[in-house]
Amino acid sequence: MPDHRMPVEPFRIKTVEPLRRTSRPEREKVLRAAGFNVFNIPAEKVFIDLLTDSGTSAMSDRQWSGLMVGDESYAGARSFFRFEAAVKRIFGFKHVIPTHQGRAAERILFETLLKKGDAVPNNIHFDTTQANIEVRGADAVNLVVPEAFDPDLEAPFKGNLDTARLEALIRSRGVKRIPLAMMTITNNSGGGQPVSLANIREVSRLLRRHRIPFFFDACRFAENAFFIKRREEGYGRKSILEIAREMFSHADGATMSAKKDALVNIGGFVTLNDDRLAERLKNSLIISEGFPTYGGLAGRDLEAIAQGLEEVLEEDYLEYRTSHVAYLGKLLEERGVPIVKPVGGHAVYVLADRFLPHIPRHRYPGWALTIALYREAGIRSVEIGGVMFGKKDARTGREVYPPLEMVRLAVPRRVYTASHLHAVADAFERVAKGRDKIRGFRIVRQSPRLRHFTARLEEV
Ligand code: F0G
Repeated sequence: MPDHRMPVEPFRIKTVEPLRRTSRPEREKVLRAAGFNVFNIPAEKVFIDLLTDSGTSAMSDRQWSGLMVGDESYAGARSFFRFEAAVKRIFGFKHVIPTHQGRAAERILFETLLKKGDAVPNNIHFDTTQANIEVRGADAVNLVVPEAFDPDLEAPFKGNLDTARLEALIRSRGVKRIPLAMMTITNNSGGGQPVSLANIREVSRLLRRHRIPFFFDACRFAENAFFIKRREEGYGRKSILEIAREMFSHADGATMSAKKDALVNIGGFVTLNDDRLAERLKNSLIISEGFPTYGGLAGRDLEAIAQGLEEVLEEDYLEYRTSHVAYLGKLLEERGVPIVKPVGGHAVYVLADRFLPHIPRHRYPGWALTIALYREAGIRSVEIGGVMFGKKDARTGREVYPPLEMVRLAVPRRVYTASHLHAVADAFERVAKGRDKIRGFRIVRQSPRLRHFTARLEEV
């Protein structure tokens, strides 16, 4: 486990971006106009933005200079080959297909492989992954180990996939209805928890025996590899690159949102070994994303990704990164805020239903907490609970909620200092003082999929 001294940033600041504070009446007006949905708040009205760690990283001087040398040729750009080599060095798969972001990689993969009635297992599907599977009429099945739902248990690899349940799924659905299996590293929707190499090996063996292709959802692979180095026996002396290569050697491919561990603001890819499948993915890519050597990105974006993939493997960076996030967790715990333990790689997950015990699940305590935090201090967080993952039961017509009702405080990479984290903790302290008066919410408008992005709500 990381120690809890204030982490020192292994970089200094060359460019700054001013932050503006808002007044309480201003925030009240903003909330009403936003339909009480933090996704509808203009970023200018946010003081500290912990909505997501996706696409919000600060790029390094070398990445910015990469933008200048980006080759913008339509086909066969030099930047593509640098990008391809950077991905292959870490992932080790034969084909690398760029996409504009992670969900585009998911879409071309699932569109090509899935039919109605198929099932895709995962530890826990991220919301876009789930949606991309469900629009094909297939089932996104979550098979994470039960420890994942015990937020007080300090286990090292709570992102692991339950192999007994995977075997049961294969038996009940049949191999033919499972065109691929996925594993999300780190497991974002389950608290940003890592998966162990032992588990990866075991899952891989099982899937290979049944000839089911195995793909990683690899957005935060470097953070996962760092946890393996720190927590799994036998990996303490291995480099992050060696660990990452070993992880990927057990799979057939990966989808990646470069907006996380490639330290860039936009980009993604799918990478895989299967020649015929790669051909089909490229055909689908050309229709909407672009030619296979740019896939919806500019040459400069490919350049920045290639550079980011080198920087993210640095141990100094990962040590700082994980302890920076853990530091926020520690500040919150000291103030009595209930959180998921251990702290994940990219975010602290607050247990909103414990923080606001007077708000029932159908009044969305997580959502209420995101609003209270913004109202108090202009801090933006995101609910990962009943609004994001609640689903109507087809038989009873009642809404079913995910096991944990959380608010995620996602920490952008290399963006905020430890003082910002102190400001967040202080805001929580103030919110806690008036928590009895915080009210629940009712949804007044929603879309059929990914409703949290666009829903409008009102206080009850
Ligand atoms: N998979 C995981 C595990 C993710 O966390 C995300 C994005 C995606 C896939 C999709 O990638 O955004 O590039 O299309 N997660 C962001 C988040 C949005 O806030 O956690 P994308």
